[in-house]
Amino acid sequence: MQFWPELIRGAFLIEFILKVIWLLLPSYTPNNFAVVFGGGKPIDFGKKFIDGKRILGDGKTFRGFGFGLLGGFFVANLQLIFERIFNIMLYSSLNYWSFFVLVLSLSFGSLFGDLVGSFLKRRLNIERGGPAPLLDQLDFLIFSFTFAYLISPHFKVFFTFDVILTAFIITPILHVLTNYIAYKLKLKEVPW
Ligand code: CTP
Ligand code: MG
Repeated sequence: MQFWPELIRGAFLIEFILKVIWLLLPSYTPNNFAVVFGGGKPIDFGKKFIDGKRILGDGKTFRGFGFGLLGGFFVANLQLIFERIFNIMLYSSLNYWSFFVLVLSLSFGSLFGDLVGSFLKRRLNIERGGPAPLLDQLDFLIFSFTFAYLISPHFKVFFTFDVILTAFIITPILHVLTNYIAYKLKLKEVPW
C-alpha cells in the first residue's frame, strides 16, 4: 500500500501501471496462445459432470493448454531479453531457475484458472463461448497469483499488495479495452 499516496503524483502512476502490466504478461499471454493454437482433444474428454452438463466443454483443449504454457514461457523469455537490453531490473533480477519457477507457475495458474472458470460457467448453465463478465476476466488472475504464491519463493518480491490490488482493478478495464480495439480492427465480431 506504501505506493499509493505517492502515486497521485502524475507520471509515477503511469509508470507503476506499466510495471504491473509488465509483471502480468506471463499471466495474460497464455490464454491468447491457447486461442490461437488451441483445438483438438478436450481436456474433459467430452465427458459430462453429475449435473448432466459438460465438465469443461469443447473450448478447453490439451493443445490450447500446452501451447498456452509454452507461449507464456516464451513471452517471459522475451521480457528477460528486453529487460537486459534496456537495463530494467524486474524479472531479470532473478537467477534463471527462480525466474523459470515464477513465470511458469504464473502461466500454469492462469491456464488452470481459465479451466476453473469454464467449470463454473457450465455449472451455471452458460454455454461454451457465452460471456460471464467478471468470471471470465478474473478467474485466470486469481489462480495465477495463487499458484505463483504457493510455488515461487520470489512471488512476494514483485507482487506486493499494491501490485496485486492494481492488477485486479486494471485487468477488467484492459479486457474491455482490448476487446473493443480487436472489434474495431475487425479481429472480433462482437465488442465484448
Ligand atoms: N482454447 C483451447 N484450450 C484452452 C483454452 C482455450 O483450445 N485451454 C481455445 C478454444 O478454441 C476456445 C478459445 O481458445 O474456444 C477461446 O478461449 P475461451 O474464451 O477461454 O473459451 P470459450 O470457447 O469461451 O469457452 P468457455 O465458455 O468455456 O470459456
Ligand atoms: Mg470465452
